[in-house]
Amino acid sequence: MSRGPAVFAALCVGLCAVASLTVGHARQAASVASLKPLVPAAASSIASNPDAFYGQNVTITAAVDRLVSPTSFTVDQNTKTSGVGEVLILVPVLNAPLAVNTYVTIIGEVVRHEGRPAIQATAVITAAMIDIAKRLPPPMTPDEEAFDRLMKRINPAFSALRQAVAAGAGGGANTEGTLNVQAALLMRAFADTEAFWKKRDQADAVKWAVDARAQAETLERAIAAGKSDDAKAAVTALQQTCSACHGKYRERQDDGSYRIRMGS
Ligand code: HEC
Repeated sequence: MSRGPAVFAALCVGLCAVASLTVGHARQAASVASLKPLVPAAASSIASNPDAFYGQNVTITAAVDRLVSPTSFTVDQNTKTSGVGEVLILVPVLNAPLAVNTYVTIIGEVVRHEGRPAIQATAVITAAMIDIAKRLPPPMTPDEEAFDRLMKRINPAFSALRQAVAAGAGGGANTEGTLNVQAALLMRAFADTEAFWKKRDQADAVKWAVDARAQAETLERAIAAGKSDDAKAAVTALQQTCSACHGKYRERQDDGSYRIRMGS
């Protein structure tokens, strides 16, 4: 019979050991970065046996008992037994009012606070499924709103072009008329993007905007000339310019929206 399996086995002794070692290291590194499991718990168990919970990440669903301060409140397992088995909840912010005796789901780490168990919450989810412990970004300035609108126009235009080019437009498919409109929209929007960053005095962002505009123009020409390979190359180049600028200047907020990152 073939010696294949034996050779493979011998190779594997060496290679697989290396592979599993690497995986082991990666796992360790990840767990150090606080990938502690989330333990479902009851407020009453935490209150009666806090030592078993200190340092654990827990999730509890309990009734709001007392509002202690703008960033702390107590919960109780049961709306009828105030004071018994209550746990203090510490939050970074509460961006909506909390009503006493309503149920909330809390996620956070159990900590010792002034000798008693408390939960340092990262999420407080109400019955309406809204996390009210999220930091909301401050309102946008009119300038930032205008910039946000630019990005929201750029994105669908670019998606349309990218999909059409991937599907072969530029290679003779006769969708050029509408694609030219999208490309022209991109060119105008990137000219406005450039003006925005000039005002903010960010040379690299200005350059990315200039590059993006030029790449949109190259794309438009390639599509008009029916050169599908050139069109594909222009899409790839433009995509990289989007990513380069986002890597430095775009920041995702807790609520999932995007804002401009400055000063780094
Ligand atoms: C010169 C910098 C720059 C370039 C180039 C750029 N962006 Fe952006 N983009 C940003 C910044 C900064 C934000 C975050 C601010 C915001 O969303 O208001 C953003 C936000 C976005 C958003 C999120 C909008 C939202 O609020 O939901 C999308 C989508 C987006 N860009 C798409 C693109 C695409 C697609 C390209 C390329 C074709 C591109 N951008 C090129 C800077 C850039």
